[in-house]
This record gives sequence, structure tokens and C-alpha cells, in this order.
Amino acid sequence: MCYDNFLNNYKHEGESLKIEIWPSPALSKKTQKVESFDDDLKCIIKNMLFTMYSTPGIGLAAPQVNVNKRFFVLDIDYKREKVTLPDNTEEYHLDEFNPMVFINPVIKSKKGEILYEEGCLSIPGVYEEVKRAEEISVEFQDIHGNQQQLDTDGILAVCIQHECDHLNGIVFLDRLSLLKRKFIKKKFLKERQRDRDE
Ligand code: NI
Repeated sequence: MCYDNFLNNYKHEGESLKIEIWPSPALSKKTQKVESFDDDLKCIIKNMLFTMYSTPGIGLAAPQVNVNKRFFVLDIDYKREKVTLPDNTEEYHLDEFNPMVFINPVIKSKKGEILYEEGCLSIPGVYEEVKRAEEISVEFQDIHGNQQQLDTDGILAVCIQHECDHLNGIVFLDRLSLLKRKFIKKKFLKERQRDRDE
């Protein structure tokens, strides 16, 4: 399994997974605890990172690629730069990776409040401010199954809360006021319908 080398060579080592788009039923299910930390898990995590970096996004939870399990990946630090090749084609160069993997995460405590504009790979084109806890303490397992704990705040705390929601069948639109939620969901569905018709 090439997870450790993956980041040096992520372009050649991953497979792009199909991302479920809201209102896919995969996004509203409760997920199952991860019990075995085997090569299948490492492989799907590698492919989720690949998919996240190439889409691009900063977080991706298992239900978003139709895997009904409690884990997600994120990277809030990597840099993405457009470069023009000698033949004038353009591509993106990625650098300064800091991939994080959270398996069976549990948020143990929350403090404060923060408003942050969120987006989601499963709801493309929609960005809305969501109220979250500013500081959290989260327990989770790493890719080897070891128990870990992280106290964090700001954007990383926001991302972790967003991704944990996915594991409980919740998307960020569900965190908006009823009126706003209805309006945005309706608009999103209408636009997707229009894209399909064209
Ligand atoms: Ni999301």
C-alpha cells in the first residue's frame, strides 16, 4: 500500500471517485463505525484524498463517495497554483500538503461561537455562513487504528464539525434557518434541473 508515498506523487497514484451530489440519499444516512483498519480502508482513503485534491476541496467525508462509514479526510493547508506548460496547456501544481484523516471521530467538547462561510463538494456553487463552535476537542482513530485526540479552533474546528455532520447524514444547509434552507435548496435543485435540460 502506497499511502506514505502518495503525497509525493498523488497525481499518478489515485483514482477519482464519484462525488454524491445533494439530495443523494447517501448524504442523509447515518454511518457505521470503522472496525477494520485494513488495506481496503487505506485504499479508499488514498482515493478520497486524490479526489479531494483534484476537485479541489478541503474536506471529503466517506458518505460523499457513497461509503457508509465513519471517517473523513481534510487538508486546510495545501497550496494550489495554476501553471502554463510549454505547449500552452494549463494545469495545477499542488504543494505543502498536510492531509489529515479522522476515523470514528467524536467531538467531546465545544466552546464559543464562530460564523464561517462554508461550501461543500456535494453542493457545488453554494456558499453560506454557518454558526459553529469556535473551539472543539475531538477524539478519533488514525489510519493505523491508534486512538488520537486533538484540541483545535478556527477553520480546522469548523471543517471537522462540517465533516462530522456528514457522518450523521447532515449537510451544512441543514444548519441554516428554516427559511434560508428552503430557499437555497429550492434554488439549487432548480439550477441543477436547468443544467440537465441544457
Ligand atoms: Ni461537505
